[in-house]
Amino acid sequence: MVKLTGLKKIKTAVFISGTGSNLKNLIKFSKEKNSPISINLIFSNTSKAKGLRFSNQFNIKKYISSFKHPKIAEKKILDLLNKENIKFICLAGFMKILSKKFIKNFKGKIVNMHPSLLPKYKGLDTHTKAIQNKDKVAGCTVHFVTAKLDSGKIILQKKVKILKKDTFTSLAKKVLKQEHKLYPTAIKKIFN
Ligand code: GAR
Repeated sequence: MVKLTGLKKIKTAVFISGTGSNLKNLIKFSKEKNSPISINLIFSNTSKAKGLRFSNQFNIKKYISSFKHPKIAEKKILDLLNKENIKFICLAGFMKILSKKFIKNFKGKIVNMHPSLLPKYKGLDTHTKAIQNKDKVAGCTVHFVTAKLDSGKIILQKKVKILKKDTFTSLAKKVLKQEHKLYPTAIKKIFN
């Protein structure tokens, strides 16, 4: 894994598709003195992603490319990542699947936040599945990204109790709150 050398922060890109609350949280974390990363690029596969507003707010470069033609999109992103000297990628609510080839270029340097206690509930609708299955706990996982969806080595997990009164919305909110704590902690764990 990449190690912190000297005082230089590791140039990081965050990939999003939506609201970007994890992105905002990671930007705030990156500004802390002891954070190992700096956020230098925001990528989204859609111009509709609300999180893109953090590009202006925090003066961070953004890049948008639809994944209609994934190979072309990935090539453009890789070129940009190389040009910007990006060494680490955080997926934060990024809803597209990256190809084997793309991941190979950033082997061991892409991490993802997933809203379940992996290996349980890979893919979509994790909270709905947890509630439908009457699970007692839900949670979130930060893991390395490999070619197999939501299956890379787990870095950290956090459990959240599911109460009888919980709905999809209340559970998603509780888990998201924990995601915001877990992502920075997991990044510190990787680099320290
Ligand atoms: C988060 O709950 C994240 O775990 C999930 O999307 C949400 C994004 O919220 N990610 C996935 O489902 C990835 N498959 P945000 O845009 O507010 O950070």
